[in-house]
Amino acid sequence: MPETWWRGAVIYQVYPRSFADGNGDGVGDLAGLRDRLPYLAGLGVDALWLNPWYPSPMADGGYDVADYRDVAPVFGTLAEAEALIAEAHAAGLRIILDVVPNHSSHESAWFRAAVAAGPGSPERDRFWFRRGRDGGPPNDWQSIFGGPAWTRLPDGDWYLHLFAPEQPDFNWNSPDVVHEFHDVLRFWYDRGVDGIRIDSAALLVKDPDAAPDGRDPYTDRDGVHEIYRGWRKVTDAYPGRMLVGEVWLPDQERFARYLRPDEMHTAFNFDFLNCALEPDALRKVIDTTLATHVPLGAPPTWVLSNHDVVRPVTRYGRADTSFDLQDRRHGAPTDRALGVRRARAAALLAMALPGAVYLYQGEELGLPEVEDLPDDLRQDPIWTRSGHTDPGRDGCRVPLPWSGDEPPFGFGGDPWLPQPPDWKDLTVEAQDADPGSMLSLYRDALALRREHLGDGTLTWLPSADGVLAFARDSGLTCVLNLGDAPVPLTGEVLLASGPLPDGQLPPDTAAWLR
Ligand code: GLC
Repeated sequence: MPETWWRGAVIYQVYPRSFADGNGDGVGDLAGLRDRLPYLAGLGVDALWLNPWYPSPMADGGYDVADYRDVAPVFGTLAEAEALIAEAHAAGLRIILDVVPNHSSHESAWFRAAVAAGPGSPERDRFWFRRGRDGGPPNDWQSIFGGPAWTRLPDGDWYLHLFAPEQPDFNWNSPDVVHEFHDVLRFWYDRGVDGIRIDSAALLVKDPDAAPDGRDPYTDRDGVHEIYRGWRKVTDAYPGRMLVGEVWLPDQERFARYLRPDEMHTAFNFDFLNCALEPDALRKVIDTTLATHVPLGAPPTWVLSNHDVVRPVTRYGRADTSFDLQDRRHGAPTDRALGVRRARAAALLAMALPGAVYLYQGEELGLPEVEDLPDDLRQDPIWTRSGHTDPGRDGCRVPLPWSGDEPPFGFGGDPWLPQPPDWKDLTVEAQDADPGSMLSLYRDALALRREHLGDGTLTWLPSADGVLAFARDSGLTCVLNLGDAPVPLTGEVLLASGPLPDGQLPPDTAAWLR
């Protein structure tokens, strides 16, 4: 494998809690994942990105990390993690770990020490502790999950948490914090991890004393780049390792700064994920993406889903197919069959574009968003912090269906979120041998992609209104019809997202040709 494997890789996102349960307690774990590595190798992906597996009180599904150098008992042990890394490598799969540098857990050793040491102590300097203002918080910042971003301790100090109160924000002005994370990266690189996904990467630098009318006081501050230059230096000492950043920024020019040659290797393309399935909008996002990445020599990434967003088959079945993190449009009417047809077409588009592709577990099964989870089972802090107005992200985190006719569908135990009974038609077992299933489409596409696609460039081809058509370096072409009428195809069809009556490409369908 070349050192730049990540440039054209297909990376499968594993949400460990919901992937497969090896010990029958209803929560996915490393044992379950190790058992299923042959499935992932057989699917044809190149790498796995694992959501946080660290010890955590799970106030935010593990994004509240209590110890960055260990594995949560509910998932397994550090020894099992090392075994998983070795087995994945033997199966030809690289491992990308999630590191959460913006905040910690209120149960981390550092935060406990800070609370114990009291106001004004050096221990508090690793976080953002402040005295209040006029009996209230130091400023009016709101948490991204809803409610105030400051919580008061009994000793009168307030601490900052851009997310839940259980997630105190680190102060990146503290040299301790800088050194700690360099050391954490080395800890995992030394254990064979191939890459790091950087959580909430644009938020690390903040200025709680900034004037309220100035620039955003905590998103994309210029100082954040110095942090990633440091991370890149650490990473460069380990050949073949990579950084991928979670950078949600509307401004492409600002986004591209994170991809300069001495910062991250790649970052998630959320503009593509957010984009409606409309030809002009998509073409614009693709062109802008290429225009910002190519001059930097950084490969674009193509992302349709992850553990924070509404599942594509649900989203694409709605009248408005765009996605907005701030407004999930939960419960908007959706046409399942249409959503599936479009999700299949979008998958062929994403997998044909030049660069790396991220898939989120269950996307390859065409799982819908579960929108009717019982309220008392919802675990996402967004649900409570929004005063029960936003149901949050649990609907895309329901445990995977593997086999059988009824829950737990081979997942193991009594799943921590209930699976809909009609998922019996969506299990891996049910789809495995069906050439028309979503799973077969993903497998076929990934096999072809390995041969003909990946890193490189694209050339747009002339096409009818509502149609996107482009050729890749290998000569393979991708045609996506988002118009109202079928269009003729020329060439040999290698793969199509749906039937092609009379050899024509119907609306909401994509094909790969040569
Ligand atoms: C990122 C994660 C999300 C998490 C948040 C806080 O956006 O993807 O799941 O809740 O960071 O860590």
